[in-house]
This record gives sequence, C-alpha cells and structure tokens, in this order.
Amino acid sequence: MTSFQDPRLPADERLLCLSELALACQDCEMCGLARGRTRSVFSDGYPDAEIMLIGEGPGQHEDETGLPFVGRAGQLLDKILASVGFDRRQNIYIANVVKCRPPGNRAPTPEEMAACFPYLEEQISLLQPKILILAGATALQGVTGQKRSITRSRGQWFEWNGMLCMPIFHPAYLLRNDSRAVGSPKWQTWQDLKAVAAKYQELTGQSLAKTGG
Ligand code: URA
Ligand code: URA
Repeated sequence: MTSFQDPRLPADERLLCLSELALACQDCEMCGLARGRTRSVFSDGYPDAEIMLIGEGPGQHEDETGLPFVGRAGQLLDKILASVGFDRRQNIYIANVVKCRPPGNRAPTPEEMAACFPYLEEQISLLQPKILILAGATALQGVTGQKRSITRSRGQWFEWNGMLCMPIFHPAYLLRNDSRAVGSPKWQTWQDLKAVAAKYQELTGQSLAKTGG
C-alpha cells in the first residue's frame, strides 16, 4: 500500500491502481453489508483532484447506480459545491466511509467502517488530496477514528496525516433543515465551503468559477 506521505504516482498509474481497487471492491465480502448490496459504490469524480469529499455510505440510489451522492442529498451537495466553484467532473473526488449500503440507511457500525477502511485509506493514499471535506459525523469518525460532535467540529480546520480536513454537516441533514437564514445549518455549510474554496485557491493557485449561490 502507498502511504499518505509518498509522492503521487503518475496519473496513468494512479488511475490503474484506483480502477483495480474499484474492481476488488465490487466483489468485496469483508463485512455483512455485502449481502444486502446491489452494487458497491467506490467513487465518483476527478481522479486528479486536490480535494476529496468523504460521505457516510450509499443510499438507495447510490446502491442502484454504483455512484456516490446521486440521490436527493447528492443533488443538494452538487449545488452547494457548485456555489463555490467545485464540480465532480473537474476538481473534486467523492467517496464514502463504507462502500455498500447499510440496510434501511442506518449508520454503518464501527465494525463495518473498520472492515471498509482499507479501501478509503488506499483511495486517499493514491489521490494524495491536499484537502479532505468530511461530510457528517460518520465521515469525521470514519477518518479520524474519533467520535466527535459535528455541530462543534464543523467549520474548523484540523490536520490529519498531512492533509487539511474540514468537517461539514451532511447534506441529508441540510435537507431536513431547509432554512437558509444567517446562522442556519445551510448557511453555516456555505461558509464552510467558502473557506474550503479559499484554502484551495491558496494551496493550488487555481481559481474557481462560481455558479450563483
Ligand atoms: N449519503 C452519503 O453519505 N453518501 C452517499 O453516497 C449518498 C448519500
Ligand atoms: N448530525 C449528524 O450526524 N450529521 C450532521 O450533518 C448533522 C447532525
């Protein structure tokens, strides 16, 4: 396994490793979630991205299509990302803490997260993103191994294995809290994404084209 600190592999080798890993994931039986899945959901987005977003796990639409964040929460996520200039076809890579759908969309158990972690770890090692966006408490726990309140953690940068991490609310939580008023969870998430976009421009020197807000 490559480590977080190794230099990035050349793009073609990186793509090859990622697609081999995705193939292995299709037949994975490392935990009980394998029994209930239609398809495992490995990733979506741009494999040269400097920024990676990590969610919780597939829901129904993701399980059916094999792609992360394509249901209602995913559509909201795409809108929020677009408002600061991020686009999964251009500059962001997306994966989940667990690759198979937990029954009834329950949160994955610590055992399931641990069984699946080697995939996420290898995705991060291969991609070597500069920034990780952790969407929701499960992503925060899945990556850091620590159970922390997302309400208290969101909006605050921390460093993990040489990468900058920004915890944000999960988009499914924002669907249940629809207000955009100043101070609301949606407004807070927008502030958090604006901070990520500013940091991204600072670290990469790349500018971002925004699409409304
Ligand atoms: N919620 C997640 O956390 N991930 C997805 O891929 C879809 C919904
Ligand atoms: N609780 C969570 O688990 N996630 C959120 O995004 C917000 C509240």
